[in-house]
Amino acid sequence: MRIILYTGKGGVGKTTLSAATGAYISTLGKKVLVVSVDPAHSLSDALEFEIGPEPKEIFPNFYAQEIDVYYSVEKFWGILKEYLKSLFKWQGIDEILAEEMSILPGMEEVSSFLWINKHVEDKKFDVIIVDSAPTGETLRFLSLPDAASWWITKILPLQRKLIRFIRPAARIITDMPLPEEKTYDALEELFKQVYNLYYLLQNSEISSVRLIVNPEKMVIKETEKAFTYLHLFGFPVDGIFINKVVEKGDPFYQIQQKYIERIVKSFEPTPVFIIPQVYEEILGFEKLKEFGKKIYFDKNPAEVFYKDKPFEITEKDHTYQLKIYLKEVSQGNLEIYQNEEDLIIKIGNHKKHFFLPRILVNKEIKNALIKEHYLEIIFG
Ligand SMILES: Nc1ncnc2c1ncn2[C@@H]1O[C@H](COP(=O)(O)OP(=O)(O)OP(=O)(O)O)[C@@H](O)[C@H]1O
Ligand SMILES: [Mg+2]
Repeated sequence: MRIILYTGKGGVGKTTLSAATGAYISTLGKKVLVVSVDPAHSLSDALEFEIGPEPKEIFPNFYAQEIDVYYSVEKFWGILKEYLKSLFKWQGIDEILAEEMSILPGMEEVSSFLWINKHVEDKKFDVIIVDSAPTGETLRFLSLPDAASWWITKILPLQRKLIRFIRPAARIITDMPLPEEKTYDALEELFKQVYNLYYLLQNSEISSVRLIVNPEKMVIKETEKAFTYLHLFGFPVDGIFINKVVEKGDPFYQIQQKYIERIVKSFEPTPVFIIPQVYEEILGFEKLKEFGKKIYFDKNPAEVFYKDKPFEITEKDHTYQLKIYLKEVSQGNLEIYQNEEDLIIKIGNHKKHFFLPRILVNKEIKNALIKEHYLEIIFG
């Protein structure tokens, strides 16, 4: 069982690579599902095939699904949504607005992803490939468990007891709708499922995130941010896919090569795949399959390419230690610059960028030293 999730900035090639990888794997004899969780579906356009909200085998061993977000929200959050809606309406908010407001931030993203749980339980597919929304939305979804765990452990049990206790009295003094037992049950069941899902996605033996990037400055920065936060939240990234790389002679060749060097250094030791810019439309199963073959060349796309952590952040007495892996520790002066979130590490001729998470941005660099393959930076 494998779950491979492709993400990256808008337009970098998530849908194309998801479909291409799936098409290629299906010809290697594995049962594959390519599922699009991006509300702006284009998987059917890439495959030139009608795709429905349930998985459908459209080629031998190749299944596709475009998740219907409204249906999924009803399916997974229906009971809670009903309660919130009644609460908003009670406050005098009109029907349509109450309906809109009852969809909480993150609810849509989570609902789409909960399908993955179901597919894993059904054990029908060997490989599930997820064509996800652009990095910003994907990260928002992946950072939810922290908030959710707080709700579960702190608020939920307390509220439930309290509501049980005050319900009879509350009925007399107010007609405000109170959550019923079934609302709590549904919420608890939902959180259990969300936890299972995160557990799956954080298991590096099963799940990998693959980041797609184009050799352009703005795209790289967003990808560096995603890389930092994905690892921070515990989601393993097993490959960086540099897409739309032009050939020698192209006016963009030189500048792209400069950016490719930056990408390789910044994400090391995560394996990097270079994917050429092609000058025809990559549409339909056959073309996608050939493209998939080209991307992976002699490798099996279902393999786990990398499992370790390229960096670690630890805290002790308000001092933070950032430990970054360096592939090549060349001789030379160590220089470190910080420009807001962008940490630049220079050793001799080697230069590496690292996107600092919020907790480190406003801290001061106190010390830095290299120990074997690691650079340790102390922030205080
Ligand atoms: N290597 C490539 N060479 C040429 N064209 C490509 C390549 N990769 C992707 N494309 C084209 O770039 C466009 C965007 O690709 P795609 O739709 O896969 O990106 P996306 O990341 O899924 O976009 P969105 O964020 O809008 O979902 C498509 O027209 C696709 O055919
Ligand atoms: Mg897409």
